[in-house]
Amino acid sequence: MLSLICLATLLPSVLSAPIFGLSLGSDTEAATGATTALSLADVETSLSRPAKFARVAYCSTPSITSWTCGEPCKSLGQVKFLQSGGDEGLIPLYFIAHDLTDESIVVAHEGTDSKNILSILNDAKFGLVDLNVTRFPESAGKGIKVHSGFQQTFERTADGLLAGVLKGLEDTGVKKVSVTGHSLGAAVATMTGAFIKSKVDPSVEVTVTGFGLPRGGNQEWADFLDQNSPVTFMTNQNDPVPNVPPRFLGFQHSGGEVHIVDDSQNNFVECPGQDNENCAQGNSLLKTSVSNHKGPYFDDISFGHSACPDGAA
Ligand SMILES: *[C@@H]1O[C@H](CO)[C@@H](O)[C@H](O)[C@H]1NC(C)=O
Repeated sequence: MLSLICLATLLPSVLSAPIFGLSLGSDTEAATGATTALSLADVETSLSRPAKFARVAYCSTPSITSWTCGEPCKSLGQVKFLQSGGDEGLIPLYFIAHDLTDESIVVAHEGTDSKNILSILNDAKFGLVDLNVTRFPESAGKGIKVHSGFQQTFERTADGLLAGVLKGLEDTGVKKVSVTGHSLGAAVATMTGAFIKSKVDPSVEVTVTGFGLPRGGNQEWADFLDQNSPVTFMTNQNDPVPNVPPRFLGFQHSGGEVHIVDDSQNNFVECPGQDNENCAQGNSLLKTSVSNHKGPYFDDISFGHSACPDGAA
């Protein structure tokens, strides 16, 4: 096991599961089902607002609080800021807002750039650890393990965030929660989404969306998400981030992938099953593009501080 961990740290960040057909005892499986084409209109309908909220999460806290973050804020129309947390440092920023167009409470998590996320994902000190069963009692005895770094990040804001969402639901009377994020923010969003889902009234619809999502846990976690808190996540062409941590270390994606095939801005496919070979999972190592992590995903939506007026965090 030790040599495996050493190997993993030495591997270039782009290495992913399908190489050499390496499996090393992992029992995760890649789906092979045929993809279905999606139009730009399909993608816009379900993903446009989550993408735009995830983009806002990269702007400075004052500009989010006052909803004056320039184009990223303006493009969303009427939105009422409710709460923010985190510190843009050790604890990545999140905010909660009332989306008056969609009549929902939105939680958006800030991400990080491809260099940072790849260094977190390739850091062997962040292995798989048990999901906190005190927080997710319904997961007890299921053998669920998640990425220790993502869980630590999630734990730092989970309680305050849940309180804010419950208050937002009560104050506004809406019946929908949308949780979103890019990169590290997408990974945390999958945990936040599952947590909120388990705590709100079943009449509240919770949707979880991610962009450039890395793998966040083992097969049991992927199955748990599919059953209890399905995720929709977009992977852009040859972005290496969705392929790490690798499957041969026991990591697995949930279902729900929407893959961007090329940069024509309207070539999208829906990928059935988990880690479908016809989508990001099947990418050639020789064609990895770190800049694909940032975007554009569609409608010129890219993620990072540069979209914000102050260009800052
Ligand atoms: C697990 O969750 C509980 C809240 O349900 C929290 O108090 C505790 O600190 C968490 N444990 C860890 C290790 O984060």
